[in-house]
Amino acid sequence: MKADKIKEDVQIIESAKELLRQNRRTIAGYTFTVPSPYEYKHQWLWDSCFHAIVLRHFDTAAAEEELRSLLDSQHSDGMIPHESKYSLFGHLLPFTSRVTQPPFIARAVLDVYRKGRNKEFLSEIFPKLESYHHWLRQHRETDNVLKVVESDESGEDNSVMWDDEYIAPVHRTYLRWFPTYVPLFPQLAALKSVTATSAYADALECMADIAGILGDGKASSSFRNKNRRVIAAMAKVFRQKDELYYNFTHSGKLIPYKTHSIFSPLFAAAIPRKEAKMLVEEHLINPKEFWTKFPIPTVAASEPKFNPQGYWRGPMWMNINWMLHRGLLRYGFKAVAAELLQKTLAAVKKSGFREYYNPLTGEGLGAKQFGWSTLVVDMIKGSKGQ
Ligand code: GLC
Repeated sequence: MKADKIKEDVQIIESAKELLRQNRRTIAGYTFTVPSPYEYKHQWLWDSCFHAIVLRHFDTAAAEEELRSLLDSQHSDGMIPHESKYSLFGHLLPFTSRVTQPPFIARAVLDVYRKGRNKEFLSEIFPKLESYHHWLRQHRETDNVLKVVESDESGEDNSVMWDDEYIAPVHRTYLRWFPTYVPLFPQLAALKSVTATSAYADALECMADIAGILGDGKASSSFRNKNRRVIAAMAKVFRQKDELYYNFTHSGKLIPYKTHSIFSPLFAAAIPRKEAKMLVEEHLINPKEFWTKFPIPTVAASEPKFNPQGYWRGPMWMNINWMLHRGLLRYGFKAVAAELLQKTLAAVKKSGFREYYNPLTGEGLGAKQFGWSTLVVDMIKGSKGQ
């Protein structure tokens, strides 16, 4: 039984490696991994971070290349666009999207460094990372938490969390592409995001570690202090009477739906252990809410808005499970993390590496040969401390 299980894991690891190899492109001299050869043919911000996090287990040079090329899309003010690398006849076009995505870059850089121990890579990348975090501070911080501008920037395009922010359901249609891509088109929607802020808090901690490795003690303690300020602000801004963290609209209205983002603070170790335990016991392993057959749904199954096939309105997404898995391990919830991994593997065994999955049936949905679903490999490795 155990031998069969190990064999299955090896097969999944091998097919993930092959998928990332097949999705790799060199366009106008930049080498990176496309999310899916069928639907998403450019470079995407958080996708590339997740690809690099998996690639480091196979080929650290390829993982470094992925992040280098991502940082080469940086604008002169420090912003890093969520989509870039459009080309025509082999030439790069001077155009990118106008939004960013949740900031997982410092996390990816640090994880890749921890495998490859390439200090040159780290010192080459660090100034660009500093400039990106400076830009985030200037343009995306509000009350010390992160706001996301327009639904595409959240990476959760049609999520229920945007339902109360947009006057019309723009996020559920391709109309959302106007503020994302069209120059000068007004960007009016924004919300204070628990998931983006959790990624940000973690990124600040990574920045502190990276600066420390590079011997810059001053930058390191400044990032460490900033991390603490953001974590304190998260409790102040997001935490509600039920001790859960909720998103807020631009005008400061609570967005009351239970989504996967209630678990995001675990990723940044942003809540006390007692609250983490309550979160896991009452909400995560609760079959009425998030412990469906193929968890976790992005919207609690108990929510009237839950739609198991609705893109970001219910399905299971691998990057969310990966965040949660890391969070559970950070707090030492090993048994629940192991169960989450087994249930996640069951969906991949059933349906392959798909963009997202029906959390009730494990049916694969959306794009095929989808890059970041290989994060399940990092979950396998992470459960062994690798
Ligand atoms: C979709 C997802 C977004 C992702 C992109 C590329 O727009 O919602 O999060 O980055 O596809 O995979």
